[in-house]
Amino acid sequence: MNREKTLARLLASRPIIAPSMLKCDFGNLADDIAQLEAAGAPVLHLDVMDGHFVPNLSYGAMVIERMREHTTLPFDAHLMISDPEKYLKDYLKAGCDAISIHLEAVPQPISVLEKIRESEALAGLVINPETPVEKLEPYLPHCDLILIMSVNPGFGGQKFIPKALEKLSWVRQRMRDDQLLSVDGGIAFETIAATAQSGATLFVCGSSIFDQSDYSQAITNLRNAATL
Ligand code: DX5
Ligand code: ZN
Repeated sequence: MNREKTLARLLASRPIIAPSMLKCDFGNLADDIAQLEAAGAPVLHLDVMDGHFVPNLSYGAMVIERMREHTTLPFDAHLMISDPEKYLKDYLKAGCDAISIHLEAVPQPISVLEKIRESEALAGLVINPETPVEKLEPYLPHCDLILIMSVNPGFGGQKFIPKALEKLSWVRQRMRDDQLLSVDGGIAFETIAATAQSGATLFVCGSSIFDQSDYSQAITNLRNAATL
């Protein structure tokens, strides 16, 4: 998909509930993807972990390429990897529509963000809970998406860190309306409204969807709670 189209499609779906494919059934990925699509998910969030930048391993471009065969939903890839620039072309080729890199992994991110945009994907920048939000300032004009981590990256099912709310507000005041503000980690029915009030527009939800038997109901409940 081209960048403008992906962005328009996502902006039109706000508040965006993005299921995180970390708690899915890896033995039945195609089924889970079909169920999420039927349940109304507007995008899938793909957590790529390398066992180096974060203390866990998940899946990479080869698995994403196979997922791509099962849906036309946009893929929002969250690269929790060292030296993401080296692997960008693999994730682009695999069919990722948005690619987010960590500021902690790429201290000079402008050229990487621009490279992502030139390849017709949305460019995202992520910060960990301990990274001061002010560090994002020089890079905001180069991003289509800013992602505030509300847990330490690496694992699903962790507790929401409330400090993320101040960070979201800080970014919201400095970003354009055609940029997406995402929050990831511990987003559940009890925490999502506060993140929406602080300006988040894209909500990554792992456990709060996959721990429910009815994905459709879970997505609807989360979306309603995030609607201001
Ligand atoms: C954590 C990942 C998240 C994770 C969220 O490192 O980036 O996307 O899957 O899971 P929950 O929603 O369970 O906190
Ligand atoms: Zn994530």
